Amino acid sequence: MKIPFQETGTGNAVVLLHAFPLSRKMWQSQIEALGAASFHVITPDLRGFGENHNFADINTMEDLAKDVAELLETLKIERAIIGGLSMGGYVTFNFYRLFPEKFAGLLLFDTSSAADTEEKRESRFDLIDEIEKSGAQALIEGMLPNLICDWTKENNTNLVEKLKAMFAEVNPQAAIAALRGMAERQDHTNILKDVNVPTLLIFGDHDKVTNLEIAEKMKSAIPGAALTKIKNAGHYSNFEQPEAFNDALVSFVKLVDYK
Ligand code: MLT
Repeated sequence: MKIPFQETGTGNAVVLLHAFPLSRKMWQSQIEALGAASFHVITPDLRGFGENHNFADINTMEDLAKDVAELLETLKIERAIIGGLSMGGYVTFNFYRLFPEKFAGLLLFDTSSAADTEEKRESRFDLIDEIEKSGAQALIEGMLPNLICDWTKENNTNLVEKLKAMFAEVNPQAAIAALRGMAERQDHTNILKDVNVPTLLIFGDHDKVTNLEIAEKMKSAIPGAALTKIKNAGHYSNFEQPEAFNDALVSFVKLVDYK
């Protein structure tokens, strides 16, 4: 399946996969920072989000990963630093399992290698019921407050409004398809020990969805991985503290050897 994407700059490739229920627009600040550092940045819209209007009843994380692999094939990109935030991370784990040879480096932002717990799965089905009743408003009310930290709520009302507007644009049926896909995703914790490319984890220090305990466990399991904790950030660390996030990201990608 052909997917819409943005491509900026020339040089070594970095592929960034967006979170739920956002789109490639979430990476604007990172695209600028990586572009300034002479990287070729590729940001797709995953099924159902942004300009990607294709989705099924359930969009599995594996299907999303295969779409991205097809995109890299079309662009003739053999190796890239690949990663994503939260749902983008779930897709990245599937991608790594299927096509490890495509990775020059691995980026894991506010995400988890684990599958959903039964409780989490139930909460997704509750959210699906709410979306059926009140559309994207259910995401704004039921999900957004948990994604950003108190510091952001108090000091960055522009961002809060921007996120509300982005959530309001979401196609409710596409959100449901992705929620079903996340609920049934497989656990990838067993592959962490075999990761053999440079890996950077970036997590907000107040992330309540995928917290620092999860981050520390993944860091310990992945050989040689580095973890940067972002102060005054929740789950959307790239949005909440773009400068600190970009510093960590750009310093890391500059050190990766693509050969
Ligand atoms: C995301 O940010 O992509 C979502 O919070 C992921 C999830 O619901 O597990």
